[in-house]
Order: sequence, then C-alpha cells, then structure tokens
Amino acid sequence: MKYFIANWKMYVGRADAVMLAEIARAAKTAEGVQTIVCPSFVHIDAVGRVVSGSAVVLGAQDAYFESSGAFTSAVGIKELKELGVSHVLVGHSERRRYFGETDEAVNKKVKAAYAGGLQPVVCVGETEQERTAGQTESRVSAQVRTAFQGVSVKKVIIAYEPIWAIGTGKASSSADARAVHQLIKQIVKETNGSQCSVLYGGSVTPDNMHEFWNTTDIDGVLVGGASARKETLSSLLALLSF
Ligand code: 13P
Repeated sequence: MKYFIANWKMYVGRADAVMLAEIARAAKTAEGVQTIVCPSFVHIDAVGRVVSGSAVVLGAQDAYFESSGAFTSAVGIKELKELGVSHVLVGHSERRRYFGETDEAVNKKVKAAYAGGLQPVVCVGETEQERTAGQTESRVSAQVRTAFQGVSVKKVIIAYEPIWAIGTGKASSSADARAVHQLIKQIVKETNGSQCSVLYGGSVTPDNMHEFWNTTDIDGVLVGGASARKETLSSLLALLSF
C-alpha cells in the first residue's frame, strides 16, 4: 500500500476545503494507493460528506489523548471516529513547535489512537540545526523509539518530515530521505516488529513528487501547501493514476 496524505493545515476555509475534497474524490488512483485528506477539525464534517462512499478517507491533524472530560478546545478520538475519521496525524512538527507537544505526549496520543481504533500517522524529523550537527539519526531514532514505547500493534505508519524542508521549497533529496526511512524501518522492526510504512513530507510538489513516489522505502508522501491549492492538488493526484 502507498499513501498520499493531504494535510491542509490551517490553510483553507470551508468552501475551499469542500472544493479540494471534490477534486480528491474525482481523482482516479491506481490500485494499492490510499488517499487520505486531513482538513482542520471544523471542516471534517463537510469534507466527510464529500468523500463519503469514495476511495478517499478522512484524517485529522491531531487528537487529544484523553478520552473525555474538562479539556477545553481539545478534540478526542471518539469524537473524530463519529465523524468518520480513520487516520490521525500525531506529533506533527508544527504541533511540537508551536503547541509544545513532547515526545511523551506523542506516545500517549499514539496509544490513545490505537486504543480508540484510529490509525496514527506519527510525524518525526530533525531541525536544520540538528541536521547540520550530524544529529539526524539520533533525533529521529529518539522520536520513533519514544513514540512507540509500550506499543505493540500490527501496523505502523510514520511520516519522515525534516523540519527544514517543511514549507521552505527545499525538499530533501530522495536518497537522503531513503536513508532515514531505512533507519526508521530498522528501529520499528527491532522494537516493535510491526509492518511499517514510512512516508516522506516536506516541500513535495508536482515537480518532485514522481521521484519520491518511485523511490524504494518511500511508501508515500505527506503533502502540505501543494495539497491545499486546487491546481497543484490536481497535478499531484494525476500522478497517482499509474
Ligand atoms: P509542505 O508540503 O507545505 O512543505 O508541508 C509538509 C507538511 O508539513 C505536511 O504535514
């Protein structure tokens, strides 16, 4: 299975979210390709109505680890499931950076997602500074190990998103990404033994998508900005048809 995940972040209003969902719904994708769209919480219901009954499935951009209670503004797994969500991004670097999400919180969210029947897509990646200091492997390893501590499941999906590549137009090379993907797969094999898919994210565009999509050990892509504009989303989806 290969995954195409569109993370619309906080980029679009309701009308545009619906329009993007219609584009995704209409796209022809080859067998073995799963398209997942992740609108902001407030557009999930509207987008869900558009993709309902199609091959496109719904993802959320985050979820809280507590199941219910006095947690103002938080959204729980059960609430997402009620809206038809099947996947949830966990530990996106923007959550870590702007909302103080720690590796330990990511671990709690991973456990809560599995317990509640959602497939987490765990995001990991190093900063520019860590990369320059030669710490990519140690940082990513630590993130993966902590995220899956005490987790024993059949299927793991991880997105490797180097922070320096997100929204910068400076994508990783497919060879560098592949090396990190191999490391991640090795760690999951040793610690968890699960089937593991690793997606690449960070400045994926219609121009470089083909290369990532066709590189061994890259099991799909997680796309932000280019998935939130109709022209580029259409071009990206067109690449999934063969
Ligand atoms: P961009 O595709 O905008 O670089 O964002 C990547 C990302 O963060 C997806 O989750």
